[in-house]
Amino acid sequence: MSEFDQLYREVILDHYRNPRGHGVLEHPDAVAEGQNPLCGDEISITLAFDGDTISDVRFEGRGCAISQAATSMLTELVVGRDAAEVARLPKEELLEEIGIPLTPVRLKCALLGLGVLKVALNKGKGTPLPEEWSSSDDLSFR
Ligand code: FES
Repeated sequence: MSEFDQLYREVILDHYRNPRGHGVLEHPDAVAEGQNPLCGDEISITLAFDGDTISDVRFEGRGCAISQAATSMLTELVVGRDAAEVARLPKEELLEEIGIPLTPVRLKCALLGLGVLKVALNKGKGTPLPEEWSSSDDLSFR
């Protein structure tokens, strides 16, 4: 493993052990939950808006280190950004933060939180649902 990969792994573990944006907003403007049907792991997200800007985001969930760490990283990426812009956020932007190559199974883990966030944005702001997660055998959301 390269020194670089090792560094990214340590960052991922730190997010897993000390998740940023963890918890539930008391008076959210939007809520969504999602599950990875391959493993049953779940993430729920609460969002608050200030106009069209995401002013706060919290998540709870249970799952592997990648799913939890990726969602923790995501909370840091999106606060203060425009809801419609985040609804179009390419998955590559989050994967770049994660920084290590992922197998297809691990990719689903990494994108669970992003999918849930986009569903919450759809509920709160009517932004388009993410195409990546529309197929029924993929990640499931409500
Ligand atoms: Fe379930 Fe990663 S193993 S989300």
